Amino acid sequence: MVPEPQGSSLIIRGATIVTMNDTFTVLEGDVLVRDGRLVSVGVVADHERADRVIHARGAYLVPGFIQTHIHLCQTLFRGYADDLALLDWLKTRIWPMEAAHTPASLAAAARQAASELLLSGTTTVLTMETVHDTDAVFAALEPLGLRAVVGKCMMDADDAVPARLLERTAHSLDESVALARRWHGRANGRLRAAFAPRFAVSCSQSLLEGVASLSQEHGLVVHTHASENRDEVALIRQRTGRSNIDYLAHTGLASPRLCLAHCVWVDDREQAVMAEREVKVLHCPGSNLKLGSGLAPVVEMRAKGISVSLGADGAACNNHLDMFEEMRLAAVLQSVRQGPGALTARDALWMATREGARAIGLDHELGSIETGKRADFLLIDRDRPQFLTTRDPYSTLVYSARGTDVRTTVVDGEVLVDDFRPTRWDPATCADEARAQAAALASRAGF
Ligand code: GUN
Ligand code: FE
Repeated sequence: MVPEPQGSSLIIRGATIVTMNDTFTVLEGDVLVRDGRLVSVGVVADHERADRVIHARGAYLVPGFIQTHIHLCQTLFRGYADDLALLDWLKTRIWPMEAAHTPASLAAAARQAASELLLSGTTTVLTMETVHDTDAVFAALEPLGLRAVVGKCMMDADDAVPARLLERTAHSLDESVALARRWHGRANGRLRAAFAPRFAVSCSQSLLEGVASLSQEHGLVVHTHASENRDEVALIRQRTGRSNIDYLAHTGLASPRLCLAHCVWVDDREQAVMAEREVKVLHCPGSNLKLGSGLAPVVEMRAKGISVSLGADGAACNNHLDMFEEMRLAAVLQSVRQGPGALTARDALWMATREGARAIGLDHELGSIETGKRADFLLIDRDRPQFLTTRDPYSTLVYSARGTDVRTTVVDGEVLVDDFRPTRWDPATCADEARAQAAALASRAGF
């Protein structure tokens, strides 16, 4: 006889399951989770036993959100960097504050961010941290349960970068590989490593070429910013004589592993290159609005078959980390650009789940409620007063709901938010620690 697998099990009974499978099935039913995976979706026999049963009648069960662009380390900078455009925002506020980070402040930022994210239904992030001490971020995330693809920021060029953040090329590459060796696949696979060259402005060509070949060798995602702002695009053209996307392709980076945050200023020809090389776009509508970066051509990129997923970007340019807000903004901004319906609520939820999984190369594991996938999902009550008249789950989730409506969050089959309360951490302690670390950091940065 095959022995029963050891580990935990969980049954959710009577939910309205918004599967986000290829045919957008929505069904009333149950979910059985064993050892972190979805074992049945639809009907779970009455006699089936589990360590925990949650009765979810009247709730939507939705795949956990996958935010593909965020900087956990910037969570402590919230409110210290408002009302500036990208390059000034970086030079005068963000880089000095990143340079003032310590392992303790990085851990506090990661914990506060993870708390906010999990409480509002985000179960996975692709995050660019700062240049130093990224071990502290991995270590802080491990016990909290958030799924994360983490890259240390790489910067080896640009005279505007503070000395503490400027690295030697070889050291930056070595350090990124060393982090991957230490952390990639840890915590039952919840923690993964990525290469994170900041953007072409602050990276040498040899750094970008080195990342391209190491990413191929190790099969790791490359997470960078591109064509967010017109001045950034002009700088790259002036330095290289090429458009930003052409330049990145010239360094060898254009591949299905390349994840580009923003892509607000990419023309038709650049989009064609991105489509052909299967480059992923990480759309951050809240950040684009607040930094005044522009409105990304999301409808056009999707029409060309480019994967466009969603992220809040950092708390210093958003200033919240709530995926519901990003879904809503993604839809309504395209409504302004291309007319209502150009990007529907269902499209926005698809970008928040399936496209996120695709961007980080985990579509076979994450992004939908399907048998065999990892059990990452959230529960949200259907009968809240602000949802009462809406029958369409996509409309409710994208246009009416907010992060604070999330009742339960599950990652890898473990209930991390239970009836609005975290199970693995105390949010008040996280907030106290974040407040104290932010004040000390701001004073070290001279703010
Ligand atoms: N471009 C280079 N660095 C950053 C960053 O930290 N945030 C954003 N939004 N854009 C960038
Ligand atoms: Fe960013």
